[in-house]
Amino acid sequence: MTAFDTGDDIIPRAGVIGWPVDHSRSPKLHGFWLQQHGLTGRYDRLPVPPENLAAFMAALPREPGFRGVNVTIPHKVAVLPYLAQIDPVARRIGAVNTIVVQPDGSLFGSNTDAFGFFESLRAAAGENENMAGWQVAAAPAVVLGAGGAARAIIVALLDAGVSELRLVNRSFDKAESLAAEFGPAITALDWEERAAALGGAGLLVNTTSLGMTGQPALDLPLDDLPRAALVSDIVYTPLETDLLARARARGNPAVDGLGMLLHQGRPGFQAWFGVAPAVTPQLRAAVLA
Ligand code: ATR
Repeated sequence: MTAFDTGDDIIPRAGVIGWPVDHSRSPKLHGFWLQQHGLTGRYDRLPVPPENLAAFMAALPREPGFRGVNVTIPHKVAVLPYLAQIDPVARRIGAVNTIVVQPDGSLFGSNTDAFGFFESLRAAAGENENMAGWQVAAAPAVVLGAGGAARAIIVALLDAGVSELRLVNRSFDKAESLAAEFGPAITALDWEERAAALGGAGLLVNTTSLGMTGQPALDLPLDDLPRAALVSDIVYTPLETDLLARARARGNPAVDGLGMLLHQGRPGFQAWFGVAPAVTPQLRAAVLA
């Protein structure tokens, strides 16, 4: 059996490649939208071990019905050499999470994580009356972490016009090298400065794994954070992290990490299946179930 395992019918198909890929929520996300829109289509988990990536990418354009794939760990960077075209945002992030098979069989790669993050903030701002008038670019943003997820969030915030981004990371050198790469809006700060970095901020984003189920807690006193600041955690297991709970308890608006996951799926679904899908409370419930 190959990763494709197509069966006989030629119907529009997409899926998520990763290794392991069992825990991906993307099949639930895209499966919900397929059903909601009454579309004939499939979206599957596609387990691809690293040693099979080259063969998978070579076969993808020739698989009957395959419109493209989402890409997750550990392939987000490794797929780059197989793509004929890479969207400029994905180039800046340095990773691809969405691949579309073009009519000529070539592969187009993009990264929808920055879009997903920004859309999840925008949706939260629209739904939360405490956030009337909140604008991402109006005050400094604090980003914790300097890994792959941080890169997507940095690009999203710079593109949204944020002019001061305080980047705090345990390994200072990684924050420094992102500051050098992304320019003068970024200030690299030492992990010990994380509480003081919150002064005057309008947004705090945790992109580290701290606070995730099975990981250490995020030790970050929020006293210096203005109450109007939006607090966002890209961790979504648990959905309500300790950071978000503490933020809400002191009156800050808060956005959980599920929104980013749901919104990042929208462009891929539209490209593969031809319908622009929406993020709704029903979708959230279905993906969490
Ligand atoms: P991702 O692609 O999800 O961003 P990653 O590249 O492994 O994953 O990055 C994980 C982030 O969490 C990094 O910023 C990491 O800090 P280091 O660069 O110092 O490794 C941060 N992180 C993980 N465990 C941490 C801990 N115990 N304390 C502080 N930061 C931590």
